[in-house]
Amino acid sequence: MRDFLIAGNWKLNGSSAANEALIAGIVAGVPGGSGFSLLVCPPYPYVAAVAAQVAGSAVSVGAQNVSEHESGAYTGEVAASMLADIGCEYVIVGHSERRAIYGESSFQVAAKFQAAQAAGIVPILCVGETLEEREAGTTESVVDYQLGAVLDAAGIGAFARAVVAYEPVWAIGTGMTATPEQAQDVHKHIRAQLSAKDAGIAAGVQILYGGSMKGENAAGLLAMPDIDGGLIGGASLKAKDFLAIAEAAAQS
Ligand code: PGA
Repeated sequence: MRDFLIAGNWKLNGSSAANEALIAGIVAGVPGGSGFSLLVCPPYPYVAAVAAQVAGSAVSVGAQNVSEHESGAYTGEVAASMLADIGCEYVIVGHSERRAIYGESSFQVAAKFQAAQAAGIVPILCVGETLEEREAGTTESVVDYQLGAVLDAAGIGAFARAVVAYEPVWAIGTGMTATPEQAQDVHKHIRAQLSAKDAGIAAGVQILYGGSMKGENAAGLLAMPDIDGGLIGGASLKAKDFLAIAEAAAQS
């Protein structure tokens, strides 16, 4: 009932030439079949060019961040309306790197989530615990808090047009993937949190897993009932690696 979404988070990587080659490779290799969609999230300066290059293909474009503000004196910021204007359909909000390195609070993340939706862009809300939090047994309360801030601000209705990504911080860029069971436990918990507010909306929300996902572990993760795709960093930078995950989704 829920399609898979395989999303590439390119982070701070790329150049015009490298992106063009990467997109050409991805577009040429999109697996046949249905039940999944592909998304790439390049750095801001490349969003428009990538949007033009993927136009008419099965690949969509997103951004990695957005301002919570609409316009005005916010030097260096990019508004959701600007992203929509250049063909951006999704935006990642609350990635753990933004929370940890740039000090984004869950309230700011909620404001970004709402700003994206106000411009017609689908937010991909990232949540996840650190290793210390997992070892302290607080994974569920951390995720509840991060999700709760957005639920309080935007309401459950907003999740009819949103994606959630569970990204355990200890699995990001470390090669240490959560096991399918570990991920499924948290995905199930997230869906239950949403379901407590509205079962119908919760049943439709795509919940992606992120954290060292690659071709070799994708099928096992995607086989889990509450895992609806992936948010992929390292393995999204080579067409062959990204397509291996897309292939796993196509066959799941
Ligand atoms: P990774 O990154 O796939 O390189 O672990 C995932 C992410 O940070 O979104």
